[in-house]
Amino acid sequence: STIGFIFDLDGVIVDTAKYHYLAWKNLANELGFEFTHEQNELFKGVSRKRCLEILLEIGGIKATKEQFDTWMIEKNVDYLQYIDKMDASEILPDVPKVLDFLKAKNIPIALGSASKNAKPILEKVNLLSYFDAIVDGNNVAKAKPDPEVFLIAADKLGVSPSRCVVFEDAVAGIQAANTANMVSIGIGDSNVLSEAKYNFNNFTEIDSSFLNKLVANLAE
Ligand code: G6P
Ligand code: MG
Repeated sequence: STIGFIFDLDGVIVDTAKYHYLAWKNLANELGFEFTHEQNELFKGVSRKRCLEILLEIGGIKATKEQFDTWMIEKNVDYLQYIDKMDASEILPDVPKVLDFLKAKNIPIALGSASKNAKPILEKVNLLSYFDAIVDGNNVAKAKPDPEVFLIAADKLGVSPSRCVVFEDAVAGIQAANTANMVSIGIGDSNVLSEAKYNFNNFTEIDSSFLNKLVANLAE
């Protein structure tokens, strides 16, 4: 194919931010401090390791290497309990509509996520079969806004970066897509995602006429 579509996972396909929040909050509370929804905003698109560093800064806690590693594992074990209960009802509105549109046109689809739990989550919500390539936290060295994750995804799809579209909910993800020379589409608040080429609050705002034009422009 000449064109490809790349989806972020957390905040684009499913709203896992609420589970990340609960797991980080549980850890913060155990360590004796509060963790707010507002602070959780800073964690979107950010690697697990960097999240823990920020959390400990918030709590004013200096950890030994052993403590740090233990808390990383503890947070993830807790997070996985929430993930385990997920099903297709947690897919964000109209995500399947867009995936089906692309499938019908034989346009390849990749995942480009910072999460190391991407595959189990896609399995849980029954969307794994849509993806021709999965690039996640297990495959990348450099976190968004570095374009690495999206460039590997384009490569796996066999599509040149300038002919890829990226759906993202995090500022760092939009920056990564722009640096990769891809068409960035922000999903969420346009004031926050102002660097995106296009912006929608969610997939219900994306109609087939927009998608058809986008595909036609890219294929030129
Ligand atoms: C996504 C989320 C972040 C999360 C990161 C790593 O980018 O938006 O909040 O920290 O993935 O997720 P993981 O599942 O590997 O802990
Ligand atoms: Mg995201």
